[in-house]
Amino acid sequence: MLHNFVTDKKAELKIDGKTYYLPIIVGSEGEKAVDIRTLRTESGYITMDSGYMNTGSCGSEITYLDGEKGILNYRGYTIKDLADNCTFVEVAYLLVHGSLPTRTELDEFGSLLTSFGMIHEDLIHFFDHFPPNSSPMSILSSMVNSLSNFYAEMKGDPLENIDKMAARLISKIRTIAAFSYRKSLGQPLVYPNHDYSYCANFLNMMFDSPVKPYEINEEIVSALNKLLILHADHEQNCSTSTVRLVGSARVNLYASISAGISALWGPLHGGANEAVIHMLNDIYKTGGNFKKYVERAKNPTDPFRLVGFGHRVYKNYDPRAQIIKEACDKMLKSLGMSDDPLLDIAKELEDVALRDDYFIERNLYPNVDFYSGIIYRAIGIPSNMFTVMFALGRLPGWIAQWKEMWDDPNWRIGRPRQIYVGPKQRPFIPIEVRKE
Ligand code: SDX
Repeated sequence: MLHNFVTDKKAELKIDGKTYYLPIIVGSEGEKAVDIRTLRTESGYITMDSGYMNTGSCGSEITYLDGEKGILNYRGYTIKDLADNCTFVEVAYLLVHGSLPTRTELDEFGSLLTSFGMIHEDLIHFFDHFPPNSSPMSILSSMVNSLSNFYAEMKGDPLENIDKMAARLISKIRTIAAFSYRKSLGQPLVYPNHDYSYCANFLNMMFDSPVKPYEINEEIVSALNKLLILHADHEQNCSTSTVRLVGSARVNLYASISAGISALWGPLHGGANEAVIHMLNDIYKTGGNFKKYVERAKNPTDPFRLVGFGHRVYKNYDPRAQIIKEACDKMLKSLGMSDDPLLDIAKELEDVALRDDYFIERNLYPNVDFYSGIIYRAIGIPSNMFTVMFALGRLPGWIAQWKEMWDDPNWRIGRPRQIYVGPKQRPFIPIEVRKE
């Protein structure tokens, strides 16, 4: 994989009068890297890059991002083509297996998902022991980790069972998410219905009621498919790198994914979609004075950030945000909700920010989280479940990345170095003589 992209060109590094020649790597889309894998052995030096802003951890065939041009491709297909033409299950298959499924392959994958929709009844009792108002992300991470105790395939060679493990996890995470919501309301659980598609099943498990059957709305199903596709992978973001790092210690898939869920929970990462809705609500409740929030975001002494704006990689409009904004308009119109005040505030906030030098100079644009919460809210999903929705979408990407890492013969356990800046070695002081 990566070794096929090491070129004959070398970077020259001069240190202490010695020149080191480091191979240059050029990826299939022209991305360039200096290969420093022998640097410490040859020179005794390491590189320093807190936040890994300039450091590549792997070669990957899964997702290509161009932050400057606002490009996002899964396995070579543009995110727009996939969002416009596929279901989430089709894209999940593409990410995990590397090619778009034939009709037969898609039907077989769909049957696996359907057959794995239930969770072990013993697992359902776990819900009774989480304190009321437990975070759905904390429940999701705990339940996914616990799944590994229920399924024997975890002990075998994961790559032999990857189809089954992927389908089982993608199906069950949806059930766990819906069950945690129903439990939080004290409502009876709604079991998966084998007649429904993946997204329709989730909606039915969330909202069906013994007293008022839930009517499946195809516009909502279509918008949810699109949202999950747009969240399905994003190369080496914080949570995906967590899945790879934990998995590199040869931890099973479910435990690795559980770690990724915990990373995604952070308000600077997947937790931003929930924070956006709280921000828009605050603006709405204080009379719509969004300019005050823009000024706060620009104030270096104010920790407030315009949530849903900015991105480590995109220094252009996040292509996902554009598609979500359009899907938002379409779905709200079809539901007769196009006068949603939060959507109006979001659009005005975007408009003001994109014309403000502070945001322009820093290439701050709306990201995937800026509009997604407005759709989830219109569907009836509570804001504390928004990041769970992000996890449902991101799961196939996490699985694909974990499989790629596990499958790489050159993969090593992840173990970054550091530069020690603490006290130099000093004599031990027995407690009797330590000064209070
Ligand atoms: C996701 O990595 C991925 O791919 C993530 C993701 C995925 O699909 O997995 O795309 C999902 O996590 C999207 C991001 C969701 N987070 C938010 O919306 C939170 C708000 N955004 C920021 O906190 C921030 O933009 C980050 C965390 C997203 C990126 O942070 P970086 O790359 O470390 O950028 P930075 O903090 O160095 O910011 C550079 C400058 C700073 O100003 P100066 O010090 O140069 O004066 O831009 C400013 C920052 O203060 N800045 C913002 C801002 N984001 C950056 N100022 C105000 N509001 C913001 N949102």
